[in-house]
Amino acid sequence: MRRFAGVVASSLALIGTGFGLMAASPAAAAATHSSAKGSPITGKPPLQVVATAPKGSLHNPYNGNAAMAKAGHKLFFQYGCNGCHGGNGGGGMCPPLTNGVWIYGGSDDTLFRLVSLGSTKLVAAGYERQALEDVVGPMPSMGPLIKSDGDLWKIITWVRSVYNGPPAHKYK
Ligand code: HEC
Repeated sequence: MRRFAGVVASSLALIGTGFGLMAASPAAAAATHSSAKGSPITGKPPLQVVATAPKGSLHNPYNGNAAMAKAGHKLFFQYGCNGCHGGNGGGGMCPPLTNGVWIYGGSDDTLFRLVSLGSTKLVAAGYERQALEDVVGPMPSMGPLIKSDGDLWKIITWVRSVYNGPPAHKYK
């Protein structure tokens, strides 16, 4: 099973690389739709984006976009996030994504890096644990599976859309 997962991950990574090259022009078009503050959609795999973007510089270009949130929910299932966080992000085996507690902080930049790198590498990159949830365990690095930054921003848009904590903590 482990071996199988590795094969799937590496073929997805290859597809991801090809997609990055092919997506050059659609990505440029998508970037023009971003809000002024949003990071450009590069079409590159999230791990490549994380490796070059300065700390704190990543901002979700899709924030508040309901169509992107809907697409993000599909991707949340496609990439298997639901297996740990529940289909509605309410937690279960793993911490809820919907409440006012953000384990490493709730900025776009932190969430993009946490999902890409996993919690161990996030901490190694200088981000600190800020809170404890009921369930404590490592968040795996999902970066090798996720095809592009656009896919991950869609997922994060969906996570924001199901937030039900205090309004002041939405992006903390
Ligand atoms: C194998 C189980 C597992 C999978 C699969 C998984 N996660 Fe996690 N996730 C965790 C755990 C455990 C934590 C808490 C990490 C910690 O305490 O250091 C976490 C934390 C998070 C957080 C921060 C929550 C908070 O309250 O601050 C977000 C956001 C998140 N995961 C999103 C995702 C997304 C998106 C995916 C799919 C691409 C995903 N996770 C897949 C286990 C998982």
